Order: sequence, then C-alpha cells, then structure tokens
Amino acid sequence: MITGILRESGDEKRVAMLPSEAAGLKKLGVEILVENDAGIKAFTTDDDYRAAGAEPVGRKDLIAKAGLILSVNPMPEEELSLCKTGQVLCSVLNPVENSGWLEKARQQGLTVLALDLIPRTTRAQSMDILSSMATVAGYKAVLHAASVLPRFFPMFMSAAGTIKPARVLILGAGVAGLQAIAIARKLGAVVEVFDVRSAVKEEVKSLGGKFIEVEGAIEDASAGGYAVEQTEEFKRKQQELIQQRALAADVVIATAQIPGRKAPLLISGETVLSMKAGSVIVDLAASTGGNCELTRNGEVVTVNKVTIIGKSDYPSDLPTDASKMFGSNIINLLKIMITADGNLDINLQDDILNGTTAVHGGEYISQRVKQMLNIK
Ligand code: NAI
Repeated sequence: MITGILRESGDEKRVAMLPSEAAGLKKLGVEILVENDAGIKAFTTDDDYRAAGAEPVGRKDLIAKAGLILSVNPMPEEELSLCKTGQVLCSVLNPVENSGWLEKARQQGLTVLALDLIPRTTRAQSMDILSSMATVAGYKAVLHAASVLPRFFPMFMSAAGTIKPARVLILGAGVAGLQAIAIARKLGAVVEVFDVRSAVKEEVKSLGGKFIEVEGAIEDASAGGYAVEQTEEFKRKQQELIQQRALAADVVIATAQIPGRKAPLLISGETVLSMKAGSVIVDLAASTGGNCELTRNGEVVTVNKVTIIGKSDYPSDLPTDASKMFGSNIINLLKIMITADGNLDINLQDDILNGTTAVHGGEYISQRVKQMLNIK
C-alpha cells in the first residue's frame, strides 16, 4: 500500500507525520509519499523526509497514487472529487462541522477514519490524538496566561520584598486540565481545581492542586472517563462556588467539556465583572461555546480589565512536538490495520476501528457519528 502525507492549508502548522514516525511506518512495509513542503511549518524539510525513506511529490500526484491519505485536518471539500472509490482518508474530522464533507465522501465510496472518534479506552490510549492535543493545549494555555498576567507566577523573596505566588483556578481536570495543573505548579502558582468527577481528586492532589468539590455531582461510570450533564441545582451551587474562587484567582484555565455537547457554562459575565483587574481567563473550550459566558472563539477580549483568551489552535503553535505526537498516535492506530504484507485491512468487528470509521463502502459506520448526525 502507498500512504500519502498531505501538506495542511491555512494557518495550520502541524503535519500529520514527521520523518521520524514516517520511518517507523515504512518498517511496517508501507511505501510513503509526502507532499512537497508538507513539514515546512513544523521545521522539517523534504530532504528530512527523503532521508526517512519517504518520497516528496506534488499534491495531485499524491492524491492519485496513495491508497491511504493522512492529514491533520480534512482535505478541502473541492478535492474530494479527485479521490477514487475505496481510497482511505485519515484525519481529525469534527463530524458535525463537516457533515456535508462527510456525506460527499460517503457518496463517493471513500473510507474516512476520524481520529477524533478513537474511543477513550485503555487499548486505544496510545492512539488517542485528542488526548495528545489536549496535553499540548493545557501546557500552552498556562504559558500564555503567564505571559499576559501582569504579575509573577512564583513566590519571590527578594531585597525588594516578598511577592505572593499567583493563584490559578483550573476548571475541569481531564487531560488538558491535569497538564495545566502540572505546569502551573512547576511555575510556582497556588492551584485550585474543580471537576464533577471525583475520580480525579487523587490525581489533582498528587500534582499539588487543591481539589474543590461541590456535593451532588452526577457521575456515570459507563461514560468512558467523560463527564455527564449535571442537574440545574448542582449547576447553580457550582456557579456560586466558582464565582467565589474566581474572585480570588489571578488566572482561570477553563477546560470543562462533555463530549458531543456545548461546553458547560461555568463563569458568568457577572463573575468576570467582579474579578481582579489584570486577571486572565484562558477558555480552552472556546470552540464548543466556551466555559465563560464572555468568551469569543478565536479572539482575545478584555472586559473590565480581565483578559479572556478564546484561542482554539494551541496545538498548531507547538508544531514540532504536536506533529510528533500526532504521527505516533496514527502509527499506533495503523498497527492494528496493516497486514504482514503492508496492506490495509479495516476489520469493522474491532471496537476501535468500528468506532473510528465514519464512513466505509457507502455507509455510515461509527455509532457516534450516526448519533451526532441523527442518522438511523
Ligand atoms: P476531557 O474530557 O479529558 O476533560 C474535561 C474535564 O471537564 C473532565 O474531567 C470533566 O469531568 C470536566 N467537566 C465536565 N463538566 C464539568 C463541569 N460542569 N464542571 C467541572 N468540570 C467539568 O477533555 P480534554 O481532552 O482535557 O479537553 C478539554 C478541552 O480543551 C475541550 O473543550 C477540548 O476541545 C479543548 N481543547 C482545546 C484546544 C485549544 O487549542 N484551545 C486544543 C485541544 C483541546
């Protein structure tokens, strides 16, 4: 089989696979084409790919020859017509946002592997691209906040007197939140953390964060490590407590999400208006509506001297390591599909492959995609 690595368009700086991972893929018996300059924004040249055994080619050539096409984001819709029945496209999909794109791919008989649908199970952990990218986002969010905050993060005792450490409030202790706790603690901040899943309490403590609880949270062990919708009573109590803690905070990193739903609203406009002048909110959930009422996706806004950052593309700002993680997650996924002679065998009886395959042979396959798009 021939695998092609596409160059991304627009502002995206990542590439689906760097040469180091491409070399690993080649060892599985796969021939690799890479679009000219695909890695340039991740500081990797065509010569680096050549040295890893991949052949740089033009885009049309790649789309015509590759049986499996890898990219970070779905290829532009107008290029789908260049693809042939049976070809496999593998990228992050965002099925709701790209439902028209997906329907076109289905009608053309393409197979679409959606990396954002990889189930969050123990077996699929090494393939979990969303976790890898959330790790990057949690890290970058804290560094971004520290660079905007008009104060130090750590405590300083100097001849000029003692400076108190910054207080950081982290909402949601999933992948991004835990990473944010670790980085904020490394920078010397005092960290408080909210989550509706009590399972994370010990992890938060072990990273040096203080876990703040609101009693009465609904937890569902069958939700695969994800949170579920809470009652109105719980939401009211939680907002009150968050408001209280936000007023004491210098930085809020908001990461709360419930998969497939609008982000829970945790910080009201009123709370923002009472926060300290100069404080910073980084809302990682901006693209799904935001945890803060005043967040604007893709923008930085200042309200009452509080900076609210709604940036949604942190992984693209760390293109080298984000691409490295992305590529290794893909290889781990491909390992369960590539046969001994280097061909692709998508066994739809396998729970990971069934969950990840959005469309195949003209049909919608993944239950999650069907639910998201209301397909019976
Ligand atoms: P995750 O699902 O691992 O963690 C989310 C956490 O929020 C869970 O621990 C969950 O229990 C908690 N949560 C849910 N409802 C809550 C509530 N009402 N109150 C308190 N906690 C609540 O998600 P992950 O992977 O850490 O991603 C976090 C967010 O970061 C997502 O919105 C994701 O889309 C976003 N993200 C943003 C990026 C960016 O560049 N801005 C890049 C990557 C991810």
